[in-house]
Amino acid sequence: MAKYIIEGGQKLVGEVTVNGAKNSVLPILAATVLNNDTSTIFNVPNIRDFKIMIKILESVGCKIEAMDNFLTVDSKTLDKIRIPEELVREMRSSIILMGAMLSRCGQVEISYPGGCEIGPRPIDLHLKALKSLGADIKESHGFIYCKADKLHGAEIQLDYPSVGATENIMLASVKAKGTTIIRNAAKEPEILDLQDYLNKAGCKIYGAGTSVIRIDGVDKLNSVEHTIIPDRIVAGTYMAASAITSGELVIRNIEVEHLQSIIAKLREAGCLIYNNCTTLKIIGPKNLEAVESIQTLPYPGFPTDMQAQMMALLTIANGTSVLSETVFENRFKHVSELIRMGANIKTVGKVCVIKGGDGLLGAKVTAKDLRGGASLVLAGLAAKGTTIVDDIYHIQRGYENFANNLRTLGADIRKIF
Ligand code: EPZ
Repeated sequence: MAKYIIEGGQKLVGEVTVNGAKNSVLPILAATVLNNDTSTIFNVPNIRDFKIMIKILESVGCKIEAMDNFLTVDSKTLDKIRIPEELVREMRSSIILMGAMLSRCGQVEISYPGGCEIGPRPIDLHLKALKSLGADIKESHGFIYCKADKLHGAEIQLDYPSVGATENIMLASVKAKGTTIIRNAAKEPEILDLQDYLNKAGCKIYGAGTSVIRIDGVDKLNSVEHTIIPDRIVAGTYMAASAITSGELVIRNIEVEHLQSIIAKLREAGCLIYNNCTTLKIIGPKNLEAVESIQTLPYPGFPTDMQAQMMALLTIANGTSVLSETVFENRFKHVSELIRMGANIKTVGKVCVIKGGDGLLGAKVTAKDLRGGASLVLAGLAAKGTTIVDDIYHIQRGYENFANNLRTLGADIRKIF
């Protein structure tokens, strides 16, 4: 398995441009099956999950032309309703295809995505919502069989503001008969980006970014051109990299509004941050300060996808920080690896108490999931000596050119096979 080898202690200095958002391009690629026409998507990220979603679209008959950072999907040739099991297992978020395929074809067969490294990842909210839109859903032998002769609008109150469930409901209801209202909808920026794509295709959706979304069903959709929003978690990860190495980074092609909760916590940790709407400069202090309390929450709260990266920098901050993970059940797999590097972290249920110490020491560690893996790289950048991060395929799911970008900024990091 490929590994990163990192010699710690280098300050990161320079500029980095952030790629398009993984968690926006995936639902929008799922949405391209809806218009039975072409979609041209710009600012796509060259990452593993994006490539898997392309394979899935091709497996159901769509034609795809991918160039360097844009692609065209032609869904006129879509002719299959079964999503290959091995691809769903490789990327559980392909479950957002369910709503789009149900809307386009009236039926879909998809394997149960199952849990992943950060928890059981149930889809009960997705299935309950699709049933209320008129879908008939059967589950057997690990597969989900959905059928709907005609989807109809419904009023849906989500028990939890699930990002995926909100997306699936939007995708299933754009051509349903009547109006659908989603209450307690997820408010992440990626939901607003999906609404923008769908409304360009002729849909009538209002309210994305708030907790109430209205979808008026339409009959016909048209071809679309759309540019994906910047990846706020990739931006936050580079910000954390500057913070943990007392660096000075300029981060370009971002939506600063999407980063406010991350900016607030990094300022609490002692970083200097200057910004306009699309660019940010972050200067890490000589010594980071502990952050009294961080709680991951649905947007606009502090993002769960930045929890591991924040934890890495808190392990070398002065003082004690308390970090609680309220979104996922099992998102502390990076803790044991950080402890191998000398971190002082006590885990009590879904709360971690992080006592900043006198620095980390390089060690052999293993990435267990996407963001946990990124946090181990950040820790390696600050550690004394050599850190080897194994199983970096997790990290490659969501970060484009990660090691090359860090090396350009002054990190001593290389990939070995
Ligand atoms: C999306 O996952 C993101 N993935 C995740 O990013 C992100 O961490 C998460 O939203 C929260 O922001 C993509 O967009 C591809 P949820 P999703 O449904 O949709 C529970 C990354 O690192 N739940 O909002 O799966 C669930 O178990 C990834 O980029 C149910 O109980 O997240 C979890 O505890 C990781 N039943 C909570 O809700 C359901 O039917 C949040 O899940 C659905 C969800």
